Amino acid sequence: MSRSVRLVPALVALALTACGGGPDPSGAPGVGDPYFPKAGNGGYDVGHYALDIAYDPASRRLTGAARITARATQDLAAFHLDLFGLTVDSVTVQGEAARWSRDGQELTVHPPRALDKGGAFEVRVRYSGTPRTITDPDGSREGWLRTEDGALALGEPTGSMAWFPGNHHPSDKASYTVQVTVPEGLKAVSNGELTGERTARGATTFGWRAAEPMASYVATLAIGRYEIRRSTAGGVPVYTAVDPREENTDELAEVMAWARDAFGPYPFSSTGVIIARAGDSEYALETQNRPVFPGTPDTELLVHEIAHQWFGNSVTPASWKDMWLNEGFATYAEWLWREDHGGDSAQRTFEALYRSDDADLWAFPPAEPSGAGHISDRPVYERGAMVLHKIRQRVGDDAFGDLVRGWAAARRHGNASTADFTRYVERRAPDQDFGRIWADWLYGEGKPDRP
Ligand code: TRP
Ligand code: ZN
Repeated sequence: MSRSVRLVPALVALALTACGGGPDPSGAPGVGDPYFPKAGNGGYDVGHYALDIAYDPASRRLTGAARITARATQDLAAFHLDLFGLTVDSVTVQGEAARWSRDGQELTVHPPRALDKGGAFEVRVRYSGTPRTITDPDGSREGWLRTEDGALALGEPTGSMAWFPGNHHPSDKASYTVQVTVPEGLKAVSNGELTGERTARGATTFGWRAAEPMASYVATLAIGRYEIRRSTAGGVPVYTAVDPREENTDELAEVMAWARDAFGPYPFSSTGVIIARAGDSEYALETQNRPVFPGTPDTELLVHEIAHQWFGNSVTPASWKDMWLNEGFATYAEWLWREDHGGDSAQRTFEALYRSDDADLWAFPPAEPSGAGHISDRPVYERGAMVLHKIRQRVGDDAFGDLVRGWAAARRHGNASTADFTRYVERRAPDQDFGRIWADWLYGEGKPDRP
């Protein structure tokens, strides 16, 4: 090899660094999500969040301490966390006081000593204030929602930054322990399993642990006068919290059993539901282990949110562009449930939808939402489900069932993009041609010419 050729890589690296192509030594303020550019942060990967939170509904004041354990994926002179509103009281990195600055949702931390690529580090943030509600690009409300007797924290797509600092993008999943102190008489319900509950001096502290990887958008906190029921469903512990003015569902065990049949082993160590008061939120959310419902859910809504435990929570989208991998599967779960319980077949549901000329249904292809305000529009849900039905038509019922269970198993507790999914389908059914399905149904503009 000649001398000049050997010089080329070094020159290229130098040029890239000079032009800003190398990693930013102060981390990046986002992970590059095409729809939410500020969501998440570059340069590190969180392993665990330990949150200690006190909330008083009367004063609406929250006091929090977050201990975040992470690994640097590059050398870092500084790094970002996402935090919306609230006051930062102190920050330490590796136990030493750190400087910080804030700009909108970006909390930039300057550790006294730079962090080395590959090294583990611990950051602690103390914070306080009145958490705020976030209005999404589509007008829906998330983040911290006040209720008559407490609060409800919902985080899709960016709301969790309203109650704790973190790397708030679905691509960085982590385990959690959440300790919550509320006035005696109220309950505090979060993800995973209850590890402890004690009352002293008029306040009750609830300890929660979510051991399996969790995206921050499905972290939750429900504070209020909930009634608690515990049971088991097929050997999985059930913890259910129901607003006293609402009714519990009696269908969870049946839906769980059906879903395990359809999708394979349940990916988490506990299940349940949080049934808030109708109106506490405008929508249900598939919060991990136990989805939140504003009022008692009907069967298909329960099926939808339980299906998300496999599709969304265990297999999590790589970016918000891949939202149809969540909602298409959860919607198709409803079609499958209906078919299995004496209702319309999925084929009939598909045909009825195809006959529709509703402009909103065909507004954009499921894999390419037309903007951040459209990631929960009908094409993502219903056209997304239609893509899955097209695959089922192509491979047949048995192979489709294997494919769905295989996908959940292959990407269990991980992340996946649309390209990962199409590659998986092609690899599992190598004798089939999916080209037209991808081109017309997944990526194609407008209503495909044929059903
Ligand atoms: N994922 C929720 C569901 O399917 C719906 C939802 C609530 C949502 N809030 C959102 C979707 C914000 C996208 C963005 O039940
Ligand atoms: Zn959904």
